[in-house]
Amino acid sequence: MNAADESVKQILAKRLNQALSIGGKPVANRLWLAPMAGLGHVAYREVLAGYGGCGLMFTEMCGSRAVPTENPRVSTVFRWRDEELPRLVCQIVGSIPRDLVRAARRVEDEGFFGIDINMGCSASGVIKRNSGAALLRDPAAALAAVESVRREVSIPLFVKFRTGWSPDIEPAVALARSFESAGVDCLVFHPRVAPDKRTRPSIMDHIRVIKEAVSIPVFGNGDVVTPEECLTMLDHTGCDGVSIGRMAVARPWLFAEWTSEFIPGETAFYDYALQLADKLENCYDPIRALKRYKLFTVFFAANFAFGHSLQSRFLAAKTMDDIRNAVRENIRPGMRLNSRPNMNLHST
Ligand SMILES: Cc1cc2nc3c(=O)[nH]c(=O)nc-3n(C[C@H](O)[C@H](O)[C@H](O)COP(=O)(O)O)c2cc1C
Repeated sequence: MNAADESVKQILAKRLNQALSIGGKPVANRLWLAPMAGLGHVAYREVLAGYGGCGLMFTEMCGSRAVPTENPRVSTVFRWRDEELPRLVCQIVGSIPRDLVRAARRVEDEGFFGIDINMGCSASGVIKRNSGAALLRDPAAALAAVESVRREVSIPLFVKFRTGWSPDIEPAVALARSFESAGVDCLVFHPRVAPDKRTRPSIMDHIRVIKEAVSIPVFGNGDVVTPEECLTMLDHTGCDGVSIGRMAVARPWLFAEWTSEFIPGETAFYDYALQLADKLENCYDPIRALKRYKLFTVFFAANFAFGHSLQSRFLAAKTMDDIRNAVRENIRPGMRLNSRPNMNLHST
């Protein structure tokens, strides 16, 4: 690392470690794990916790209809370790206030730090139910969702949302203001239009526009890969902190690296890949564990110069033992890394 990198890291760490409270509750720092279906599961979060440095973690999206009766010992997504609850936010997805309210009550009763309403997902199954990003087309429904949850619970309430369905930022500004008036404690904003599945760059300047429109904390999200980019997002937009998605899966130690002195060791990728395999196997049945591991490999393999061939080795695995063998045979100290993970792999 050269002297310039060093000073970026020092400045960044100082910024990220500034005290912050959300809805009256203190948060350890301003670098958070974004919600990611299929990736941000309890097994991954346990590995992440081992490195430390993540201020708040968000669960995968959990269906508001299912949450009230879900059994955490069996559920694939509504599952946690008790020790993570003080910094774990449960993300719910849904649009019917009655369902959202019941889900919110359960989330509060279980002891989560807070609850997050998903207004960003544009997967067809979610949009069909008028949920996720579909709520951005219907501001009255979006506001009703937020108001109903706010009335029901006192834990911090988050909304994660996107620009909307057209590049015009004004509708998102109006929504942000209405969410603040309805008692939302924090916004996490991903500046992309809803139909864009991360294929075009996000528009960072729109985070600034949202931040300037409200006085509650606004976290920026999208395409942050390096410490320089994280600092640029903070500086350029004035946002209160940054939420990291895909890079958190590619290199889970980045939270510790960017907020403290942590430096990953020579065998960091190898250890991570094996640890995640073990934890997934402990948490899920073999089929589910394998499926989740294979999704992880898309983001993990993108780190490496020969990521495509590595990924095809993983995808050929039929059991978790095959996975472990693929790790042992293919991941070595000193492998050539891409300076930025290969985003073409990320969009597969
Ligand atoms: C596989 C995958 C699953 C995702 N699932 C969710 C989700 O359940 N809820 C949500 O709000 N966003 C979800 N997202 C979006 C991320 O939270 C984040 O907004 C997006 O990846 C951009 O951030 P990044 O560039 O740091 O990855 C998902 C993204 C990916 C790649």
